[in-house]
Amino acid sequence: MKNLIQRFFFLVITFFTLNTIQARELKIIPLPNSVEFGEGDCVLSPSLTVKGNDAAMLDLFAQWMKKFGGVVINTQINPQVSTGGKELYLKLDPQWNDSSYQISVKPDFILLRSGKGGMVSGVSTLTQLLLGSFSGTSVRVPICEIKDQPRFQWRGMHLDVGRHFFPVSFIKKYLDIMAFYKMNVFHWHLTEDQGWRIQIKKYPALTEVGAWRSGSMVGHYNDQKFDNEKYGGFYTQEEIKEVVKYATERNITVVPEIEMPGHSLAALAAYPNLSCTGGPFKVAKSWGVFEDVYCAKEETFLFLEDVLTEVVALFPGQYIHIGGDECPKERWKKCENCQKVIRDNNLKDEHELQSYFIQRIEKFLNAKGKKIIGWDEILEGGLAPNAAVMSWRGTEGGIAAAKQKHAVVMTPGSHCYFDHYQGSPASEPVAIGGYTTLQKVYAYEPVPAELKEGEKQFILGAQGNVWTEYMNDEQHVEYMVLPRMLALAEVLWLNPAKKNESDFIQRLQQQLFLLNKASYHYSEAVFKVEFKTSANNGGLKIELSGLSGLGKIHYVMNPSHGGQKSLMDQKDYSAPIEVKSNSTITAWLELNGQTKPKTTQRIWFSKASGKTVTFRKNPSEHYSGNGGFTLVDGIKGDRPRVNSQWLAWSGEDMVATIDLGVVDSVKNVQLGFLEDKNNWIWAPKSVEVLVSTDGRNFKSVLRREVKGKDVAAPEIMMVFKPVKARFVQVVATNPGLIPVGNPGAGKNSWIFFDEILVN
Ligand code: ACM
Ligand code: ZN
Repeated sequence: MKNLIQRFFFLVITFFTLNTIQARELKIIPLPNSVEFGEGDCVLSPSLTVKGNDAAMLDLFAQWMKKFGGVVINTQINPQVSTGGKELYLKLDPQWNDSSYQISVKPDFILLRSGKGGMVSGVSTLTQLLLGSFSGTSVRVPICEIKDQPRFQWRGMHLDVGRHFFPVSFIKKYLDIMAFYKMNVFHWHLTEDQGWRIQIKKYPALTEVGAWRSGSMVGHYNDQKFDNEKYGGFYTQEEIKEVVKYATERNITVVPEIEMPGHSLAALAAYPNLSCTGGPFKVAKSWGVFEDVYCAKEETFLFLEDVLTEVVALFPGQYIHIGGDECPKERWKKCENCQKVIRDNNLKDEHELQSYFIQRIEKFLNAKGKKIIGWDEILEGGLAPNAAVMSWRGTEGGIAAAKQKHAVVMTPGSHCYFDHYQGSPASEPVAIGGYTTLQKVYAYEPVPAELKEGEKQFILGAQGNVWTEYMNDEQHVEYMVLPRMLALAEVLWLNPAKKNESDFIQRLQQQLFLLNKASYHYSEAVFKVEFKTSANNGGLKIELSGLSGLGKIHYVMNPSHGGQKSLMDQKDYSAPIEVKSNSTITAWLELNGQTKPKTTQRIWFSKASGKTVTFRKNPSEHYSGNGGFTLVDGIKGDRPRVNSQWLAWSGEDMVATIDLGVVDSVKNVQLGFLEDKNNWIWAPKSVEVLVSTDGRNFKSVLRREVKGKDVAAPEIMMVFKPVKARFVQVVATNPGLIPVGNPGAGKNSWIFFDEILVN
């Protein structure tokens, strides 16, 4: 009996201890840099009137409590923090002149203090703190002292409104989610080949003509399909002012991008006189890079100076982004005007002409009190004296610029391009390519290791880039940005020594409730179970893994056969699953009581599964997957091809030999391949199967040309009379040079394979 009572008390104590330990964690993103916990909680009623000395601060707090939590609060301007009684007070201190803020949670009051620069961040933390602390009818906040400030000054998000246009209402929604996660620079990509989006009063055709295209690409670029629907839109100067005001209220600086000298076809469609050839031009329907760019003549500079004069008047921030990326030099090479500028200014070549172009614009903008920032191509031919560089083609541009003592914003494609896939392409909406998971963004370190002590200070921060070729609507933009932006927000805010991926994921769970409440769309790719196969005693075993080892994994094997399945078939995953026949596994994560999205993986089992594969010539190092095992791992490649399930050879045949381990009867071979001529990938010309019992003497059992029906399949089925074999060799011949009239004509064709099944 005594024992039972003791155990009862022990349980009660454990329960409360666990509860308080849980309450000691703040489910805030980005995590504040310094939090000191005290004992106990501050318990408030949600119906409390929140007081403060600044209307804007109180208003933002009330807006966010409602938007992200559905909680309506009363606010009251009251110049003094009162003593006695429960109180939540927001204090704006005019003397406080950096971007820090502090929150004190005492037993009977909560006080937020900041200057203008830290106000929005403070309100964001306070909102998340309270929304994460609701329990029934009260708010129970752990006693703590938060002292917080950002690691980097440029915490950017970009949005391309050229490829697809988004109205002011959405821009505001975008700014809100940025501010809520303490991002503070909005890079607004306003001009593109496919559309000019900012009203310029002196040049009305920029928006009358340049803001509209007569159709858009449908599906992936590789498909080369278009619709014929008029598409476009632009922002009036009044709307721009409204956006800038909204951003400013959220501590966000808007950096407008006016692209030059490339990506300017929409402007040339409106004013063809600004080109080298005189046109005529159409606003682009296709994505890509176009050869018609601004001519480097005087007329162009006068135009751009007029445009920039209007732009400067609209945007109070210190930076104007002038683009500078992906400017082909073909037209300049053949243009008399451009060549004359090269001669008159003793320039070496067209790269120096691009540098001359940017430097002239820089001089103009510097005289107006603005600084320029451009994509890393502005390093080529010499960097303009005061320019900041946005490093997108990897980190090299950023490193070079920092070494030259120029300010740098890091946006490498590998970690900061939120137009890339964030999960397995097979289960994600069509994207441009790439593979940038939430974890990859979280692991990003903006200061390159190559920089020395005195050079690191030039890294202003980093930015997520959102190119919208494949984002037709607002929901899709949100889906691509969230939750990756939260990972970047923490990278840019938190001291790197405090970063912790699994802790971040736990906090993310709470944030997803808030995102739901505020009607933002987001990807749950990060919560999907991953499948990894490996060889297992002549067969396969499948390892399932979830997020950083968090939560429990459940699975159902072969869920598809025989209609309704009972719950009995659901298993808890504890060790790799042995697979000995064709199987389908559906697996999902259970995290904090929530069932996360399911992933289904088909495992293609054959006599070749998990066996040793050797090649006469190894595949290209760019597409070498998991070596020979890739072809016998039971998993077929994704189409479109972007993952590691493919092996590829350029200009060469594939000769693969599979050792079945024992002599067995064999009667067919199935070879999975890819055809994507736009990307120089061709079906093999022919396939031959040879067999051997000793691995030295092979005899051919079947050889045939690859036909149209194979391409439609897309796999090649080789069926023959049963033979005894231990070694099966598959020879797929490369079709050689790409014929004229095709993309990549005259170059080697590529052949791609994902799986070989032997039965
Ligand atoms: C870029 O992605 N072209 C800067
Ligand atoms: Zn020219």
